[in-house]
Amino acid sequence: MSKIVLGIDIGTSGCKLIAMNNNGDILSSIVESYPLYTPAPGWTEQNPDDWWEAVLRGLNKIIPSIDAKQISGISFSGQMHGMVALDCNYNVIRPAILWNDQRTVKQCQEIMQKAGGLEKLLTYTNNRMLTGFTGGKILWMKQNEPDNYNKTTVIINPKDYIRFKLCGNIATDVSDASGYGLFDVKNIKWAYELIEKIGLRGDIFPPVLQSVDTAGYITKQISSLTGIPEGVPVVAGGGDAVISTTGLGLIGTGRVGITLGTSGVVALSLNGYIDNPNGMLQISCNNSPNTWHAMGVTLAAAGSYEWFKKSLGNMLIDTAKQENISPFDYLNNLASPTNPGADGLLYLPYLTGERAPINDPNATGLFAGIRSTHTLGHFARAVQEGVAFSLKQVFDLINSSDTGNSTSDEIVIAGGGAKSPLWRQIFADIFNLPVKTVYGSAEGGSFGAAIVAGVGCGIWDSLKNAASIIKPQSTTLPNPLNLPIYSKAYEKYLKLYPALSDFMHLD
Ligand code: XUL
Repeated sequence: MSKIVLGIDIGTSGCKLIAMNNNGDILSSIVESYPLYTPAPGWTEQNPDDWWEAVLRGLNKIIPSIDAKQISGISFSGQMHGMVALDCNYNVIRPAILWNDQRTVKQCQEIMQKAGGLEKLLTYTNNRMLTGFTGGKILWMKQNEPDNYNKTTVIINPKDYIRFKLCGNIATDVSDASGYGLFDVKNIKWAYELIEKIGLRGDIFPPVLQSVDTAGYITKQISSLTGIPEGVPVVAGGGDAVISTTGLGLIGTGRVGITLGTSGVVALSLNGYIDNPNGMLQISCNNSPNTWHAMGVTLAAAGSYEWFKKSLGNMLIDTAKQENISPFDYLNNLASPTNPGADGLLYLPYLTGERAPINDPNATGLFAGIRSTHTLGHFARAVQEGVAFSLKQVFDLINSSDTGNSTSDEIVIAGGGAKSPLWRQIFADIFNLPVKTVYGSAEGGSFGAAIVAGVGCGIWDSLKNAASIIKPQSTTLPNPLNLPIYSKAYEKYLKLYPALSDFMHLD
């Protein structure tokens, strides 16, 4: 009998659910959205129960569309570093503080100082304490909302909350644990000495599972609520930036993957542990036991394009509707005929501060080089190119770091942005490398989650073997005519932030 696995991704703009069979065919794919709150500039929050309700809506659509008896396992991907604080009855104490929230600059500095400086901090965790990371948020809650901190029994991640709702298990996995900034990534355990030094309670950190471990089973009550048969294994899963690289089949290969979701991730899967000199990269445990992962994250990637679309408001939505296409396709149709390099228009994507290639939580974005001949299409193209330049800068950073095994003869790309042929061509031209997609690329983290579910429930015996079902889908080759245009534009791009950073900050 053919088997089905479910992958659920708790993203920032919505959750994606897919059902996949044991040949790697996607049988069904559903997206349900939920609100994002910005209670102050630079702050981002979501309600964990909005995620749960969206997952239930999605399950109620997807399960009737497949043969539920064949469901053999379920697993998760999710936005990383989201602080979900639960009380002693496992009720949510406050809205989750998200990965792109920038409120913790002061707390991150305090943690670094209490650790004994950057070098010492890296010996504990192999990571800087970045503002997006969970550790600074826990300290922020302790200092600013002591009642909430005192009520907290455990802090988990977004996808962990959904796993808890489905099977009652409270835990995180190694990849998401790495994103607290308080996890000893080398020795795969909480850095309790550091946690004590910064004055946090050690008992609020959850048990840590391997991504492919079974955390529990679908209960009778959840079965009647969702239609997933009782007893189906619920597998731990992983943080989206890590598991979407797994979904590209980049397992311990030293090949580079890019995820174009709300954030943009340049990631390198590593067979062995590496040090993170100066903390320029993020190093985390990977989904295959005893493997690691290096990455750099641009905070507003497809998030930039989403912002651009939204800023054009109903005018764009109405016109696209008249043409019977999505607003994104409408914008792409305007951008496609404009010249590569957008006739000198450049965009820096620091809409929500930035983490990599520059670590500047209060940075703001920029359009530069505007002329009276520029059209809406030029702006749409410039946004896509600016995101690609930013990720190229991260890619250059990874290649210049001593990661030991980077081979850069192609890029494999995932996430919603990977659906756009124009954006893929821009990446191929700016990176001067072939850009590949695999079947499932556009599903992002949910595809990796489905594969992890299949390993957890025994369909495949390892992620490496599971990768054999991943089928190549498309290859976009660089256009040599565009190479000189983009080399020149990239040179200019690299100079903009150093030259203008005094004017590119929140007051
Ligand atoms: C990874 C990161 C982002 C979020 C986006 O470190 O912060 O990729 O996980 O969902």
